[in-house]
Amino acid sequence: MKPALGVCYYPEQWPRSFWEEDAARMIAAGLSYVRIGEFAWSRLEPQPGVFDWRWLDDAVEVLANAGLKIIMGTPSATPPRWMLDRFPDMLAVDADGRPRGFGSRRHYCFSHAGYRDAAAEFARRMTARYCQHPAVTHWQIDNEYGCHDTVLSYSDAARGAFQAWCTDRYGEIEALNTAWGNVFWSMDYQSFDQIGLPNLTVTEPNPSHVMAFRRFSSDQVVAWNKAQAEAVRSETQAPLIHNYMGRILEFDHFATSADLDIASWDSYPIGFLSDRLEASAAHKAGFLRQGDPDFQAFHHDLYRAVGRGRWWVMEQQPGPVNWAPFNPAPLPGMVRLWSHEAFAHGAEVVSYFRWRQAPFGQEQYHAALLRPDSADAPGLTEAKTVAEELAVMPPLDPEPAPVAIVFDYTSAWAWDTEPQGASFDYFALVFEVYRALRKLGLSVDFLPSDAETLSPYKLVLVPGLMTLSPTLRSAIAAHDGLTLLGPRSNAKTPEMAIPVPLPPDLPDLDITISFVESLPPDCSHALRGGGNLLHWFEHLEGNAPVLESLADGRPILMGNDNVAYLGGWLDPAGLAQILTRFTAAQGIPIHAMPGELRRRDAGALEFLINYGADPIVWEDITVEGCGVHWRDRPAS
Ligand code: GAL
Repeated sequence: MKPALGVCYYPEQWPRSFWEEDAARMIAAGLSYVRIGEFAWSRLEPQPGVFDWRWLDDAVEVLANAGLKIIMGTPSATPPRWMLDRFPDMLAVDADGRPRGFGSRRHYCFSHAGYRDAAAEFARRMTARYCQHPAVTHWQIDNEYGCHDTVLSYSDAARGAFQAWCTDRYGEIEALNTAWGNVFWSMDYQSFDQIGLPNLTVTEPNPSHVMAFRRFSSDQVVAWNKAQAEAVRSETQAPLIHNYMGRILEFDHFATSADLDIASWDSYPIGFLSDRLEASAAHKAGFLRQGDPDFQAFHHDLYRAVGRGRWWVMEQQPGPVNWAPFNPAPLPGMVRLWSHEAFAHGAEVVSYFRWRQAPFGQEQYHAALLRPDSADAPGLTEAKTVAEELAVMPPLDPEPAPVAIVFDYTSAWAWDTEPQGASFDYFALVFEVYRALRKLGLSVDFLPSDAETLSPYKLVLVPGLMTLSPTLRSAIAAHDGLTLLGPRSNAKTPEMAIPVPLPPDLPDLDITISFVESLPPDCSHALRGGGNLLHWFEHLEGNAPVLESLADGRPILMGNDNVAYLGGWLDPAGLAQILTRFTAAQGIPIHAMPGELRRRDAGALEFLINYGADPIVWEDITVEGCGVHWRDRPAS
């Protein structure tokens, strides 16, 4: 595969006289793709039923004539103001019962059938208009589902759709009452039309009710996307893409992507470090202008799995953003580093957001490849360097990593619904496991929780998986390598109850969790082999061999050569010692990485990526600060 670069462009935001020169400069910079259209609805249908395609026809011609390939975005994330007159009840409603207002974007409720159909119909018309154009090679459906906290909506439309969803799932109201345990606190319903949404309750709502609502809300996103994907596919065979986000877990991306061809995500490393990562002040200060050294890679690997091997970065941070609490500029070299890191993880395309900084609207201080006065911004110089380097780089054909992690959106909803300890967070748990593997120099793959086979992985980690499906249970039983589950894996039934027999209930392993404790941040227990247990402690009973215990002898890890269960949340030192032991047992080579350095195998090449500001010497190689080094992969 030969990777390529692209950029996001908004012809409707610039005078017509700019377009030719913009397109020529994109080509001169080495960009091959341009994404357009995704917020342009009010200029394409200025009044209901009155279409103006002429300017977009013209823009497509200009970009195509310059030699660019076009990703056409459907504009359903920005319903025009007149749409509200047509559907006054289409607005999403927040948990406090307040409708979201018009005046930004993503204000629609996924359950509003009228808007869903109008958006699908607009997308179909747009596709019919441009699908024959040879330069329009890909279609992006909508923009960033879930961004701005928009998946959970407590609208009337959502309530009606939830009642229908419950009717479908449970059939009889008695079945729902039993599944949810509604005998507790006299919560029994007599009919499905009595069921409300789990907001505005006096104290916490029933976790089974919340979990059903979370599943429903995810299904609504999947159905919404499917409606539009089918509309676009009715006109074109071109690949369909959605641009996902960092650490947005409110809907099942695997299920959504089943109706798409390529997964992509929007990577804003410095913004994400500041606004969506738990880390010490020292860590954040150390990576202030680079971003966290594992956060991007985590999402690259996750979206490679979501896209069934095909994935892009649709929006790449090119300089300071505008939306985080503080918005420092990247150190020189970071735009190049982020781009190559994505390619090292298998990205087909990295596309920068955006071409020119807009001196109007909500993102005035968001950098772009050009300044508002059209002069080159620093990101453009680095993008040009990347283009030159890609031209001479051998193809990067990805291959499976030796280690995989099972990632499951449902588990994120479960532990959000019932954390039991204030510091229990599914993403944080999985991310710490991922980081520990990367610090051992390992390339990592992700698997969905319904994976049918675990081959070819020698080691598979299953942290925090709410429910072990029969499919995954069989895959584990048939797996030649080692599967390490826990903590908090197979801990709940799909209806969010504690199962009996008690967890973890693993085949051929006599382990029972007698009770669990959550611990405040200043409380930890040392492990015999090194490192500590934090946050979460499961008391393990049974006759399975003990593989690790606390200093006082209580078991914390039990298992055999094929399946093991970890009954606690370990700190980095604890994870490192256990993973070092398990990788050695499985014959997986590891490489201890210095603090800011990461490595990734990419086909015939090995990439070394230095998120630190200073050079790092590793083996016989010096990797510059904020630098990337690649070499032929040494024989292992
Ligand atoms: C993304 C979004 C873009 C732009 C960008 C700014 O979340 O898709 O439209 O808003 O953030 O960083």
